[in-house]
Amino acid sequence: MEGGARMIVTIFTVCLIFLPPTSATLGPKGLRMGFYENSCPRAEEIVAEVVSDAYRKDPGIAAGFLRLFFHDCFVNGCDASILLDSIPSGEKVEKDSPANGKFLRGLEVIDTAKARLESECPGIVSCADTLSFATRDGSVLAGVPQYNMPGGRRDGLVSRAIDVISNVPLVNAPIQQITQLFVKKGLTQEEMVVLTGAHSIGVAHCSNFAYRVNKYNDTFQIDPKLDDADSAKIKSACQRQVSNEEIEKTTLPFDTHTPFKMDGGFYTNLLNGTGLIESDQAMALDPRTRPIVERLAEDEGKWLNQFGRAMSRLAAVDVKTGSEGEIRKQCRSVNLENKGNIGIAQNLGKTNNTAGLGDRSDFPSNSIDSLHDFMRTMP
Ligand code: HEM
Ligand SMILES: *[C@@H]1O[C@H](CO)[C@@H](O)[C@H](O)[C@H]1NC(C)=O
Ligand SMILES: *[C@@H]1O[C@H](CO)[C@@H](O)[C@H](O)[C@H]1NC(C)=O
Ligand SMILES: *[C@@H]1O[C@H](CO)[C@@H](O)[C@H](O)[C@H]1NC(C)=O
Repeated sequence: MEGGARMIVTIFTVCLIFLPPTSATLGPKGLRMGFYENSCPRAEEIVAEVVSDAYRKDPGIAAGFLRLFFHDCFVNGCDASILLDSIPSGEKVEKDSPANGKFLRGLEVIDTAKARLESECPGIVSCADTLSFATRDGSVLAGVPQYNMPGGRRDGLVSRAIDVISNVPLVNAPIQQITQLFVKKGLTQEEMVVLTGAHSIGVAHCSNFAYRVNKYNDTFQIDPKLDDADSAKIKSACQRQVSNEEIEKTTLPFDTHTPFKMDGGFYTNLLNGTGLIESDQAMALDPRTRPIVERLAEDEGKWLNQFGRAMSRLAAVDVKTGSEGEIRKQCRSVNLENKGNIGIAQNLGKTNNTAGLGDRSDFPSNSIDSLHDFMRTMP
């Protein structure tokens, strides 16, 4: 009797040990840590190697990945749709949107990592996971403590420029609207402020802030949120007598003091009123977000840990898993065998997108396009 009972206990224990991963190890929507440990054991190591080589040559790629990843996840989920150069229908892709466009960085590094993954284990590691791992590794190199980045995302078949503007935040949008974009993706207002601390590294182009010192609005020539020193800085960077083309290439770092280091300087800058883009500065002035900015400015270590956790949550937004999507062979185009399915996927998306744009009818009329027009009128 006793033996029988012990055997049942043993079988039970064995079952517990050999059961497939439970909800404890499964992330949201079936994403899982160590997703490739059997199918491609060196996957994460390969990405880490490629990223650290590239980072040594240009630490700016850490910022490039963060922005790529954020804009990938917010438009059709974290499915590497932002990496597609074209789709068979010939429609403009996410990269063609003025809100992404010329300003994306780090794409070639993803290509290199993916090529090495394909030669190690063909058809196994998705572009969406490659970008997720690369973003994690880049931000860790820039100073964020190591954080969890589960795998298991699959690559999307659709990428459309018109989906971008209704999903990514614009620099001149009120904080309430930017918050709504995050909430729609299942993230909180606090996570919005925490994640925007990514602006501790990287740069912005004049076209995203020069309007603040040139005919800001009907009442103010210059954004009253800017102090004299900062408006002078922006003027001298962006108002030079040069071609539009040259101005469009001109950038300023978000954080002048430590442009490659993820640190709390971003939040103290906001409290000092020196935020480069308007929406960042607005976070320090809006009564709902100011207390969050103050808390994060006070404790850099706490912010960095929160940042890692919020990144893991961003990394699960609308992911495709299981048999959805595909594993692309290369990140810039969908696989040949799936090209025939694209029309159907796009028609579905189109219906939804129209509704999405309608929801944003209250959006400020001066969109990114008119910000660019602003630029062209500058002296
Ligand atoms: C909250 C609203 C946000 C707005 C309005 C916003 C807007 C912008 C703008 C206008 C730029 C400059 C692009 C350029 O001119 O090249 C930029 C860059 C950047 N953004 Fe954001 N962003 C937001 C949130 C985020 C979040 C959540 C992340 C990541 C988690 C992020 C990461 C970055 C990074 C790293 C850069 C620098 C890119 C580079 O140096 O190449 N941003 N963002
Ligand atoms: C101009 O901007 C200021 C500060 O952002 C704002 O208070 C004011 O209402 C704006 N004026 C117009 C006419 O939009
Ligand atoms: C911002 O202000 C705080 C205190 O007022 C000061 O210690 C800090 O150096 C300032 N930071 C920058 C970047 O100017
Ligand atoms: C489109 O939106 C409808 C209603 O909001 C939803 O049920 C459907 O799943 C969405 N389709 C796609 C392809 O996202």
